[in-house]
Amino acid sequence: MSQRPATPADLDAVLALEQECFPDPWGEQLIAPGLAGELPTVTYLVSEDADGVTGYVVVSIAGDIADLQRLGVTQRVRRTGVAGKLLDLAITTAIMAERRPPDRMLIEVRADNADALAFYAAKDFVEIDRRPRYYSDGSDAVILRRSLGLGCGGRRG
Ligand SMILES: CC(C)(COP(=O)(O)OP(=O)(O)OC[C@H]1O[C@@H](n2cnc3c(N)ncnc32)[C@H](O)[C@@H]1OP(=O)(O)O)[C@@H](O)C(=O)NCCC(=O)NCCS
Repeated sequence: MSQRPATPADLDAVLALEQECFPDPWGEQLIAPGLAGELPTVTYLVSEDADGVTGYVVVSIAGDIADLQRLGVTQRVRRTGVAGKLLDLAITTAIMAERRPPDRMLIEVRADNADALAFYAAKDFVEIDRRPRYYSDGSDAVILRRSLGLGCGGRRG
C-alpha cells in the first residue's frame, strides 16, 4: 500500500469511490478541477495497492484551518490502516504546504455515520459543534476538530 498526490488520471477511480462511500457523491464537474490542480486551496491524495486505487482524501487549506472535505476507502481494504495513512499524509501536506501552516483540522460528519465517528475518535478528533437537521435527509452534522499544533518551539495549534 502506498499514498501519493492524485492526478487527472485518477478521475474514474475517485468517482467510483464517491459512489461507493457517500450518500451524496460528488460529480465529475467538482472533482476534475481539483485533480487538475485548478482549485488553489484544494489537495487530492490517493492510496493504492497492486489492484489499483483504494482510497482518497481531499483537504482544503485556508488560513489557520485545514478542512478535511472527503476521506473514503473501498470496502475491500477497510480496517487495514488505509484511512489512517491518508489522514497522516493530508496532515503532513497541510503543515508543509503553507508558509504559515494551519493550526487545526476540521471535518463535518453525518451524526449517523458510526464508522467515520469511530475512525475520527481513534485519530484524536473531538466534537466541537453539532448542526441539527443539516443534511437534506434531516440528519445532523457533527463538527470535529484536531489540533495540528507543533509544540516545542513550533507554532502553537
Ligand atoms: C471511515 C473510513 C474512512 C475508515 O477507513 P479505514 O481505512 O477502514 O480506517 P483505518 O483502517 O485507518 O482505521 C483506523 C482506526 O479507526 C477506527 N475505526 C475505523 N473504522 C472503524 C469502524 N467501522 N468501527 C470502529 N472503529 C473504526 C479503529 O480504531 C481503527 O483501528 P483498528 O482497525 O486497528 O481497530 C471508512 O470506513 C470509509 O471510507 N467510510 C465511508 C466514507 C466516510 O464515511 N468517510 C468519512 C467521512 S468524510
